[in-house]
Amino acid sequence: MGPRSKELWDRASQHLPGGVCSSTRLNQGLGFPVILDRGAGGRVWDVDGRELIDLCCGHGAALLGHGHPAIAAALTEASRRGQLCASETAYQGELAARLSELIPCAEMVRFTNSGSEATLHALRLCRGVTGRDKVIRVEGHFHGYHEGLYIGGHPPAERLASNARDPYIESAGIPASFAKLILPVPFNDLPAVERCLAAHAHEACCLILEPVNFNSGGLLPQPGYLARLRELCTASGVLLFFDEVQTSFKASPGGAQVDFGVTPDLCTIGKALGGGLPLSAICGRAELLGQFKPTGPVQHSGTFNAPLLNVLAALAFLDEITRPGFYGHLAALGDQLLGGLQAAATRHGVTLTAPRHGARFGLVFAPGPLRRYDDVLAHDRARFLAFVRACWERGVWFHDYGGSPCHHGWSAAHTAADIAAAVVAIDGALAAVAGG
Ligand SMILES: Cc1ncc(COP(=O)(O)O)c(C=O)c1O
Repeated sequence: MGPRSKELWDRASQHLPGGVCSSTRLNQGLGFPVILDRGAGGRVWDVDGRELIDLCCGHGAALLGHGHPAIAAALTEASRRGQLCASETAYQGELAARLSELIPCAEMVRFTNSGSEATLHALRLCRGVTGRDKVIRVEGHFHGYHEGLYIGGHPPAERLASNARDPYIESAGIPASFAKLILPVPFNDLPAVERCLAAHAHEACCLILEPVNFNSGGLLPQPGYLARLRELCTASGVLLFFDEVQTSFKASPGGAQVDFGVTPDLCTIGKALGGGLPLSAICGRAELLGQFKPTGPVQHSGTFNAPLLNVLAALAFLDEITRPGFYGHLAALGDQLLGGLQAAATRHGVTLTAPRHGARFGLVFAPGPLRRYDDVLAHDRARFLAFVRACWERGVWFHDYGGSPCHHGWSAAHTAADIAAAVVAIDGALAAVAGG
């Protein structure tokens, strides 16, 4: 850790728990949080002047890279108009209409700020509409840190094997009674869903999942899996809820529901939507979204719902991603990065599986094929953390997510030269960790 970073972290730790504003910002591979000074395009600089190729990209929020001129122009325009929050302007409806054109299930849209906030209120909507309280969720998937869904996602291996009655509660402070509302099923396991629906459809409001399981290393849905979930949910009256907070805009403007051709009843989107500013949304069928107040009984309101600044940034973001060639460019960068990474892993004899969808990919230090959460428990955490550190030393920034398999990515602002430099650094890092 550089001296300026150390000084700032020490000072911040006196007033911020752990010296951070988000618990996972303490990078376990490095042993300290990355303290940034600025970013430009696909690179960032820390407060000690260390230049890094950014393969964290704001956990997926910085799809346009850092300091994109179209986003900067939107922020200037919002400032010129006095920024304006807590009121409607001409632009929220326009943004919702643009999203409706792009995202199949988005007949209507309700804006929120973060992904957690979106899933929290979307879950309330599912309960309010159906009158049922239980939730079918998929193991290894993540839907934010709130009481409703931070249960049963990532149980430790011994807990998975233990046949415990209630799903695993993932944080101190969540009441044990909340676990009784959660019905976990394994990913890519249709018979498990059929059994769960047979027993619980009458008391389950929704089946929520990440269509691509980025929060366990980017596990892809097996062919036909999402389509069959659609049929099963339709037949049982359980709402199909895609949490697209991570998948939205990564491979296409319409999200995974377009990429895989399956339309859910509702979805949540976020991260990249605000062009780097906090903006998320609940999108869904009109008869569902119409159940939000003031047209229905389900409460959702907030001072900072869709402030002008964030909405203008989101409109600029949509302009950028719908330009011809945007996704072709992203895909070419991905071919270069993932091709180089896989070749380096083979060259150095490192067992590494890197599933990819759109501009994000997983890094699982375990053999494939990877179908579900149990498969990624073989991930070599120590080697991954050593890899994160070795990359950092060579000028590439991967976030560590506590060492478990998660997701990484690039942006449209990365250049082929950035990616070539990243591949050289990754090659060196894999050589360094190959020994064990
Ligand atoms: C699929 C998914 N849902 C929800 C969230 C929570 O989003 P946020 O961090 O904006 O609260 C995340 C964040 O990583 C996510 O990946």
